[in-house]
Amino acid sequence: MENERLPGEMIGSKPGRGQLEVRLPDHVERIDQDMEYCSVLVDGSWQKIRFHDYDRIFAIPGLYEQLFHDILDCRSPDVVGKLLKEQLQRENVSASSLRALDLGAGNGLVGAQLRTVGLGHLVGVDIIPEAREAALRDRPEVYDDYLVVDMTRLSEPDRSRLAGQKFNALSCVAALGYGDIPPEAFRTAFNFVADGGWIAFTIKDRFLSDEDTSGFARLIERATESGLLDVRMSERYRHRLNVRGEPLHYVALVGTKQADIPAELLS
Ligand SMILES: C[S@@+](CC[C@H](N)C(=O)[O-])C[C@H]1O[C@@H](n2cnc3c(N)ncnc32)[C@H](O)[C@@H]1O
Repeated sequence: MENERLPGEMIGSKPGRGQLEVRLPDHVERIDQDMEYCSVLVDGSWQKIRFHDYDRIFAIPGLYEQLFHDILDCRSPDVVGKLLKEQLQRENVSASSLRALDLGAGNGLVGAQLRTVGLGHLVGVDIIPEAREAALRDRPEVYDDYLVVDMTRLSEPDRSRLAGQKFNALSCVAALGYGDIPPEAFRTAFNFVADGGWIAFTIKDRFLSDEDTSGFARLIERATESGLLDVRMSERYRHRLNVRGEPLHYVALVGTKQADIPAELLS
């Protein structure tokens, strides 16, 4: 049975979790998920915050967790952690041998999940400083390093800092498309992983379909068809609810990298 919480319902705090007052809009027209918003009571006044204004969300401790995980029942970190763990076990790979780049790391929920799976080394990357600040504030033990960079415009020092990490895994959860991480940034991150390394990511189902305009459907199709990415398992699942209480579906993929993705593959 899926979460039955109604959109527009006033949500108070949950025991043991954040103490914020968060309100979803009462009557929402059918809007895409990057246009969704909520209201949060901060210092006695209600602030309207768009879900994709991550800088504002991360600046309020506990809001990301309360909004996406408690209220909208986000499952993506759990799903990707579970699939990766299953696949590693199936192939007799020790999780502690993995050195992962967590792309679009946010405030570290995925990193925390990957630590639970047992990953040995973890580096977060995000485009906004507020994500890094929130990860260090809320989960200082999770990442061995955390860089604020734009993967499409890496400086030479950042490029060599990342190359020096000798990654053999890449994770990217709930961060592809929608004006967030573009295919070019994903390609760059993918290419930092050694051949044979593990790739685990989630993406909205529509971005893998014929209707896709993000460029990811073509990228993933070409990368798998040309043998650069060997998909070992994929699962369509409910990522979270939208503000109307309807399910948003994503696909989680776990595979191994066979070779770099050349720039021409994106054209
Ligand atoms: C929905 S959050 C997901 C955070 C985390 N992966 C999780 O599942 O909890 C999306 C994250 O992607 C980051 N992001 C957006 N565009 C990005 C880009 N071009 N490069 C790196 N990170 C980006 C955002 O700043 C945000 O932290």
